[in-house]
Amino acid sequence: MSRKNDSSIKGNAGAPWSATPTEQRAYRSLQSRLSQIARFCVRVQSAFIDLTRFSHLIQSSSPELNEILCRARIRTDIGDHLPTLFAESLSLQPRLIVELGVCSGESTFVFERVARLSGARCVSVDIEDSSRVSQDRQWLFVQSDDLKFAKEFPAWCRQNGLPTEIDILFIDTSHFFEHTVQEIEHFFPLLAPVAKVIFHDTNQRRIYFRKDGSMGVGWNNRGVIAALERYFNKSFNEKEDFIDLVDGWLIRHYAKCSGFTILTRIAFKSNG
Ligand SMILES: C[S@@+](CC[C@H](N)C(=O)[O-])C[C@H]1O[C@@H](n2cnc3c(N)ncnc32)[C@H](O)[C@@H]1O
Repeated sequence: MSRKNDSSIKGNAGAPWSATPTEQRAYRSLQSRLSQIARFCVRVQSAFIDLTRFSHLIQSSSPELNEILCRARIRTDIGDHLPTLFAESLSLQPRLIVELGVCSGESTFVFERVARLSGARCVSVDIEDSSRVSQDRQWLFVQSDDLKFAKEFPAWCRQNGLPTEIDILFIDTSHFFEHTVQEIEHFFPLLAPVAKVIFHDTNQRRIYFRKDGSMGVGWNNRGVIAALERYFNKSFNEKEDFIDLVDGWLIRHYAKCSGFTILTRIAFKSNG
């Protein structure tokens, strides 16, 4: 569950047949060897891209966006999405942002800046102690299981003088199907009538690609996208970018860099 660069590989399962303990050990050792080889190949490929491509330094007149654009150049599995996360969040002019899953703080870095520009408060939740990820005095960190926190959320907000409705919800935690289903069940009732929910890791692959063509080593897992399929009662092809409109939710999906899916709840104006 840790972030997120090429050194974190999840899903190191045992042998897929009923094997003896010795065979299990040999299988795991082979898997670990293959992962090392994959990571080495990925580093060589990234170095080759850096040598052969001239990349411009992108400049914005917004210092906050510039900081994010610089951070996005670090090759992680979320880097490609940081400017999008900024634009999508800022454009809603949120009052309350809730981030589930902090770890090394890539998304927190973005939300800190969105909060500063929009006067919002950002509450970040992680089961591990991530309290040192941000020095921003307006930032609120809660160390808790997110499902437990959801149950206490309205009372906790009132105690802390915060709005009780969430404008931006960002979900990037265990990526397990059952847990994501429960996150949806627990947190969606806490959303404001006009809100965005953003999921990372909706296209998790053993090897994933970034926009610059570089590759990363990840985890083959459909947990998050399968939870969205369950919620919307339809199947999605997460390997391609897509836009959909289901039950009043505008869904935009970006396949690269482990997948990034933005749900916007649309308040349709009635014709009557
Ligand atoms: C992939 S990392 C988050 C990365 C972060 N969003 C970023 O952009 O750097 C996942 C995090 O979710 C946390 N986590 C996993 N299960 C959780 C749970 N049930 N409740 C709260 N946090 C959880 C882990 O401790 C880990 O720090």
